Amino acid sequence: MKYKTQQEQFWAEEFGDAYIERNNSQEQVAGNIAMFSKILGKTSGIKSIIEFGSNVGENLKAIKTLIPSVECSAIEINHKAAEILSNDDFFKPKVKVYETSILDYKTENLYDFVLIKGVLIHINPNELHNVYQKLYDSSNCYICFAEYYNPVPVSIDYHGNSDKLFKRDFAGEFLNMYSDVKLIDYGFVYHGDNVYDYDDITWFLMEKR
Ligand SMILES: C[S@@+](CC[C@H](N)C(=O)[O-])C[C@H]1O[C@@H](n2cnc3c(N)ncnc32)[C@H](O)[C@@H]1O
Repeated sequence: MKYKTQQEQFWAEEFGDAYIERNNSQEQVAGNIAMFSKILGKTSGIKSIIEFGSNVGENLKAIKTLIPSVECSAIEINHKAAEILSNDDFFKPKVKVYETSILDYKTENLYDFVLIKGVLIHINPNELHNVYQKLYDSSNCYICFAEYYNPVPVSIDYHGNSDKLFKRDFAGEFLNMYSDVKLIDYGFVYHGDNVYDYDDITWFLMEKR
């Protein structure tokens, strides 16, 4: 196996390829714009962003719509998704894409806003602390988690696959690890929203001080 964990292999191969087709719509970008307008409204001075596990960049498109001058970078394990995002003309300048597993990513630069959305839930739980450290080390100021919340760790079926989806209090664990990180705000978006195409996501905006 090329990767350290079965979860990375899962996203790098067919399941990850098929995910791109299923999750690439204008409606999802619109939902992201609605959600990120709430989150970014609590921030100031964001000039650079990196998304860990960006897929084809729907979150980055929403953020770039809200902050047109922001410079976007991304880390993505799936080759097809990384290629689509690297070549997307929506972004000027183009997104700097690190095509690698987050587990192998070497933090080199600092970014004003570090985002992870719908990705911690797919990381092997034994590697979470490693990923938390990379998120922390990459941030110049803000860190945003948008994931499935559960007060205690659970593993649930994911499209018929076991050990591929984990819910827990990711942000609570992160805040406990780093005393210089403070919670700014949090919120929930609901799949049954009357207007927007949302997943059931709980977001946490934190600041490194
Ligand atoms: C459920 S999708 C979420 C995509 C995007 N963040 C969003 O909110 O629409 C999970 C993404 O994380 C990527 N991913 C999963 N594990 C990864 C890892 N270890 N390193 C880098 N990317 C990873 C997958 O390839 C996929 O693009």
